[in-house]
Amino acid sequence: MSAGLSRKGSLDPGDWEYVLADLPPPSEGRIDPRNWFEDPSRPFELEIGSGKGTFLVQQAVLQKATNFLGIEWAGAYAHHAADRLRRHQLNNVRILLGDATEFITHWCPDGFIEVVHLYFSDPWPKKKHHKRRVVQDETLDQFERVLVTSGELRIVTDHDDLWEWYEEHAAKYEARFDRLEFDAPGSAGPSEVVGTNYERKFRPEGRTFRAMTLRKRS
Ligand SMILES: C[S@@+](CC[C@H](N)C(=O)[O-])C[C@H]1O[C@@H](n2cnc3c(N)ncnc32)[C@H](O)[C@@H]1O
Repeated sequence: MSAGLSRKGSLDPGDWEYVLADLPPPSEGRIDPRNWFEDPSRPFELEIGSGKGTFLVQQAVLQKATNFLGIEWAGAYAHHAADRLRRHQLNNVRILLGDATEFITHWCPDGFIEVVHLYFSDPWPKKKHHKRRVVQDETLDQFERVLVTSGELRIVTDHDDLWEWYEEHAAKYEARFDRLEFDAPGSAGPSEVVGTNYERKFRPEGRTFRAMTLRKRS
């Protein structure tokens, strides 16, 4: 493996954090994040905007035979999550510091991700900022490319306008993704949808949480 790919100067399974800025330029070819794990042959799931890592810590314990990559562009959160995972000695989770859509678009190979998790993504409420939302036509094209057949994009939000945006995109892509009910993962506590930090912070305010699963068609 090339040196200089991670903030520690090498990209060996056992490192907890990688920095997107330190990856080789995409012109040098796609890289396979499965190789960042002790056992690259395990199924692979990815969380976009993993925040402080609450979903990953909980779910990775329940799915020890799955590798999870969390991508977070806020440095303080990414480091907090990586420290948490290190303390839990979870060898099936890694954190990438950087822009998830950039990583997926320019670095990820085709057809290897079982699930993309997108929980409480930033809503960018102003119309002129809608292009910053993670879900766009272009990113759905990319999710379709990197997911395995029947792989899933799982989405939760508490933001009405963003939910409408998701519904519009799900309708537009219905020939390529089946829309299914969202099944609460094991990380969710009683009456929770997914059990992330954000959900736990805002549930006491009585907010409504909406969720969907988009499954890639064959
Ligand atoms: C509202 S927080 C939710 C965090 C976590 N998913 C939760 O439910 O607690 C959204 C997170 O996504 C991160 N984020 C937004 N867009 C991103 C992107 N394109 N790539 C990586 N992280 C992103 C933000 O920095 C923030 O930590």
